[in-house]
Amino acid sequence: NAMFSWQRTAFHFQPENNWMNDPNGPLYHKGWYHIFYQYNGESAVWGNISWGHAVSTDMIHWLHLPIAMVPDRWFDVNGVWTGSATFLPDGNIVMLYTGATNENVQVQNLAYPANLSDPLLLDWVKYDGNPVLVPPPGIGSKDFRDPTTAWIGPDGKWRIAIGSRVNTTGISLVYTTTNFITYDLKDQILHAVPGTGMWECVDLYPVSKNGSKGLDTSVNGPEIKHVLKASLDDTKLDHYAIGTYYPENDTWVPDNPAEDVGTGLQVDYGRYYASKTFYDPHKERRVVWGWINETDTENDDLRKGWASVQTIPRTVVLDSKTGTNVLQWPIEEIETLRLNSTEFEGVVVEPGSVVPLDIGTATQLDIFADFEIESLGSESINEKSVGCGGGSVDRSALGPFGLLVIADETLSEQTPIYFRSSNSDTFFCADETRSSKAPDVSKVVYGSKVPVLSDEKFSMRVLVDHSIIESFAQGGRTVITSRVYPTKAIYGAARIFLFNNATGLKIKASLKIWELNSAFIRPFPMDQAQ
Ligand code: FRU
Repeated sequence: NAMFSWQRTAFHFQPENNWMNDPNGPLYHKGWYHIFYQYNGESAVWGNISWGHAVSTDMIHWLHLPIAMVPDRWFDVNGVWTGSATFLPDGNIVMLYTGATNENVQVQNLAYPANLSDPLLLDWVKYDGNPVLVPPPGIGSKDFRDPTTAWIGPDGKWRIAIGSRVNTTGISLVYTTTNFITYDLKDQILHAVPGTGMWECVDLYPVSKNGSKGLDTSVNGPEIKHVLKASLDDTKLDHYAIGTYYPENDTWVPDNPAEDVGTGLQVDYGRYYASKTFYDPHKERRVVWGWINETDTENDDLRKGWASVQTIPRTVVLDSKTGTNVLQWPIEEIETLRLNSTEFEGVVVEPGSVVPLDIGTATQLDIFADFEIESLGSESINEKSVGCGGGSVDRSALGPFGLLVIADETLSEQTPIYFRSSNSDTFFCADETRSSKAPDVSKVVYGSKVPVLSDEKFSMRVLVDHSIIESFAQGGRTVITSRVYPTKAIYGAARIFLFNNATGLKIKASLKIWELNSAFIRPFPMDQAQ
């Protein structure tokens, strides 16, 4: 299907065709990274959900495998929904996932690989005694889904968390188990936040306070904090908070009650949902995957024959400098796609001006940009925070300034990625309002506050992939993913520019821009599989 073929990404994970949503059960086994995902093999819209499956040795190049699980049993006939993998100490893998039953009740099911010695884990067995969990008393039959990876408590029992709600209060339940077949519901819930609605795709994971290596899910101790994440069904946003997990009673308490799950930080401030982390024992890191949804119409998705991509996997650690946020960063393997690079040193951008960066084709890029600012007037500036303002054309003394990506020569299409400061804070933003001339695509100004410490320059890293922009500010403190629909800024017509719309600042920008190769993301030649 050639329609909108320039929107296909070159190094983001996506199936050959049809609909994809949440990443499921990521794991590393016998030299292969596995990703499963919510997949409709029949259409480019949601429905008939099964588990797509692919493998990789570097999480950049992928081989698509046959569908791992289809909705074929009474306990999942209306959908093989989101779930997570757990490694047992004996090397076994258990997969817990939500099934939508023949009566559309949300239950938790157990599955496991038919043959652990198969590095590709091609065959999956659904436990015959499924479901292993049904909604407990007081929980709605459609409010009980997305089991986490399990972790072990000090009593030697496994725990899993499952998202739910009570009226409009988002909650996470905790169960203990020793065999993954029978479970005990804990009296106390892990955490609850009034007003946040249904919690989907809950994730709970440890991060080390000194911000180093990733940690396996059961690790705990004094040098460890726990991140609790929930995907809020009402707003379709992934929220997290940093806090302490108490294994004695399986509760989690936020460090800052004013910035709780759903009332504070987001994993990503753009088009992003249903994220899931896993521990990669091979490189001792925790990696987060997230789903980039479409913002066009279902009809357009049906016409183009596919919908959605996954983000580039990102490492996630606690930011030891602030202690109050995580840092996300594209996995280092993305660097293997780098081709030629161009450097720009101290490019001056005067107020109200745009400077082209002559790098040739600008559809597949890994951009590093640092900005130093120089105040023009001698009077002190007194600027109140307006966040991202009304977009990149909304000028003030201290901003905005940054990059224009996926832009055509005349700037008739462009997506500005920028900083905007005030006397009290700095915002990092992505302005999609002029990203496309296409009708019926939603175009939003995204952004959030980003801590810029006194010894730091303003810095951003931006991955550009035809119709996807992943932007990381200050080493990954604030991240924004954009799904844009260029019609002019495509193929060789795509350009990149610097801009400065601050009225009271001169900008000095230094950049290193890598062109990125395409990744190999192809069907596995199954006739050659043994
Ligand atoms: C999140 C979600 C999950 C559910 C799955 C169904 O996007 O709604 O809660 O398990 O997708 O596809």
